[in-house]
Amino acid sequence: MVPFLDLKRQHVAIRSSIDAAIAKVIDNTAFIGGEEVKNFEAEVARFLRAQHAIGLNSGTEALALGLRVLGVLPGDEVVVPAFSFVATASVVAGLGATPVFADVDLDTFCLDPESFQSAVTRRTKAVIPVHLYGQTADMDGILRVARKRKIAVLEDACQAIGARYRGKWAGTLGDIAAFSFYPTKNLAAMGDGGLATCTDRDLAEKLRLMRDHGQTVKYQHATWGTNSRLDALQAAVLRLKLRQLNNWNSARGRIASRYAEELGGTPLILPKVAEFRDHVWHLYTVRVPGGKRDALREFLTERGIASAVHYSIPLHRQPCFAFLPQRSAPRAERLCNEVLSLPMFPALREDEQEAVVQAIRAFPF
Ligand SMILES: Cc1ncc(COP(=O)(O)O)c(C=O)c1O
Repeated sequence: MVPFLDLKRQHVAIRSSIDAAIAKVIDNTAFIGGEEVKNFEAEVARFLRAQHAIGLNSGTEALALGLRVLGVLPGDEVVVPAFSFVATASVVAGLGATPVFADVDLDTFCLDPESFQSAVTRRTKAVIPVHLYGQTADMDGILRVARKRKIAVLEDACQAIGARYRGKWAGTLGDIAAFSFYPTKNLAAMGDGGLATCTDRDLAEKLRLMRDHGQTVKYQHATWGTNSRLDALQAAVLRLKLRQLNNWNSARGRIASRYAEELGGTPLILPKVAEFRDHVWHLYTVRVPGGKRDALREFLTERGIASAVHYSIPLHRQPCFAFLPQRSAPRAERLCNEVLSLPMFPALREDEQEAVVQAIRAFPF
């Protein structure tokens, strides 16, 4: 059996230090805020070369608060890629604003700047480029359109911690960025967790207030807010894991290179790393041509090899967005029929990877 992702392997290797960090938080009984959260924010800001990092309880909350502090209001439009995890668009709808779906680039799977440009109207307030699978979107192209039209840029970096564009870290490329520490992510909490980063001090201050009921001093609330705090147990775990993140991302890179070498002669369309980008391989997602994706997936399952589809329905076709005017995004639709994610995690063994490659080579394309 080759698992798609085996979290236990990582945990076993760092169990004793995690146990000690958790025990310390419990002994101190400082469960909300405090030193662990503050230190994690400082350390992750340093890692990302970000001016400000604000710990939150999920990537979804980072996106939702990001939109709010960027001033997105009910009735505004926010351009999002039609090919992403649903949260990218549902946070827009959750504010009473309208997600406007633009198409993606077939090579990078990320928002296509031209499609973004044609989706812009007078009401466009923000755009959410998603750094999908661990590679940043074409930020030059997106920023060119956004700056000209005074559109705020909220990076969805939930899958891309450590990825870079022209040497700059994802999370420092737009106005605000959102990260997720969901347990499957490259930097993973032991539960839910998230982060917002930004350069502007006022935006950072607003995010800090908003995550804690707009509270300035105890029971004084300068603005209305919510409870979106990262808790101390998760922060303690994340601090430990952050120290390993570069090693883990490098291990992912080696696995991706081996897939590229060994699958190069097959009919699969392999993922490309575009100009100016460093990929962190949250997912290794290939395209299966000729309508054979589901058959290949079944073939692999029969041979004990797990795989996954990210994603099978484009956002504009999701039932939850049926109330919106229908738009077309033919490349997103095509990808939904072609993509297949192969096993990818830092502790994936070479013999397991070889089994994946051999099984794919045996498939009658
Ligand atoms: C692209 C993308 N956006 C947003 C999210 C939401 O993050 P979370 O699950 O931490 O709320 C995720 C992760 O699941 C994601 O992959």
